[in-house]
Amino acid sequence: MIKPHGSEKLNPLYVMNDNQRAELTKEAEGLPSILISSAAAANAVMLGGGYFNPLTGYMNVADAISVSENMRTVSGLFWPTPVLNVVKDVSDIKDAKRIALRDPNVAGNPVLAIQEVEAIEKISDDQMKLMTEKVFGTLDSEHPGVSAFNSVGNIAISGPIKVLNYSYFEKDFVGTYKTAYEIRDEMAELRWEKVVAFQTRNPMHLAHEELCRMAYKAVNADGILIHMLLGKLKAGDIPADVRDAAIRKMVEVYFEPNTVLVTGYGFDMLYAGPREAVLHAVFRQNCGCTHLIVGRDHAGVGDYYGPFDAQTIFDDIPKDALLIEIFRADHTAWSKKLGKVVMMRDVPDHTKDDFILLSGTKVRAMLSSGQAPPPEFSRPEVAKILMDYYQSIDAK
Ligand code: ADX
Repeated sequence: MIKPHGSEKLNPLYVMNDNQRAELTKEAEGLPSILISSAAAANAVMLGGGYFNPLTGYMNVADAISVSENMRTVSGLFWPTPVLNVVKDVSDIKDAKRIALRDPNVAGNPVLAIQEVEAIEKISDDQMKLMTEKVFGTLDSEHPGVSAFNSVGNIAISGPIKVLNYSYFEKDFVGTYKTAYEIRDEMAELRWEKVVAFQTRNPMHLAHEELCRMAYKAVNADGILIHMLLGKLKAGDIPADVRDAAIRKMVEVYFEPNTVLVTGYGFDMLYAGPREAVLHAVFRQNCGCTHLIVGRDHAGVGDYYGPFDAQTIFDDIPKDALLIEIFRADHTAWSKKLGKVVMMRDVPDHTKDDFILLSGTKVRAMLSSGQAPPPEFSRPEVAKILMDYYQSIDAK
């Protein structure tokens, strides 16, 4: 199987031994503790599950600036985005060297991880700006990722962590939430060597389904890892349980058995377009995938990024930075001429009128009014789940 990023073996930061974990959880109750941000909690969950291998904890400011500017830590590790524990106030932990991190996303704020404090540093306004601009490509506070990144505070607590649980993901998404090491184990059991990962934060319509099939065939893969984001999204995006149900239905009805794993990971969406695509590649390699599909406006929002910026960024990274390869997907649409979903680059003889394209807004309007989108756009089973969801929110 493909090696993880930056090390021979995956080194998840979750404390695997049950006794040790119970002891640490007990110890944590007596430690100075701090309530962390949702973004920092998501980082801990990713570090715990092996997704952020080979990082050992939260970055200091020098590393966060360095990855923002050059996609390398100070010591030279390839990494595309800062992985920070940033807070507004550290008075609760004073000079403590070992602290408990409390989870903002679970009732009662239980301890999520224990951190060794290496440094507590103030991030200057200029440093915040620089990181924001480099990672998100904009300083616009209307950008949901920019506003989340700039709203958690400006004090960075860096140092290694030990992770004690997977926040709300395990309980809320039983059978779907998986760690990188669990995914590696499942793929090893299935004897999958070549695996195409599909990143998604949306329910999958026909174009997404076909994109998976096209990539699977093109690289002659053993399997497809559908890997959905289960963390926080901007308002208006479809909740994870609804997406999960729609995706599972699609796989059950339309894919050969044992060719697809439907899984999810616990991270909040950054909407950082190209930089997030690189992060996506890093953590899919850590899951054991050999290929990642990157299509149009991958991890994008609004008009902040060009439609294929998340592909061209891979031209600018050193060849040996990652082992995983990118399957670059062109814009997909339904071809009236061929009666199937195609990538536009594959049908140079087509004109605009030969395609059926539906805007997301139009589809949403149809679903909320109880009208199924046409079969060229969505499978009826998927449309039904989405219609039920839209009607349930409209009824509120
Ligand atoms: S994302 O934010 O998770 O990237 P989404 O779930 O919409 O958003 O997309 C999942 C993947 O499918 C991304 O790689 C995206 O670029 C790709 N994709 C979605 N729609 C299309 C399309 N019509 N044509 C080409 N690629 C697409």
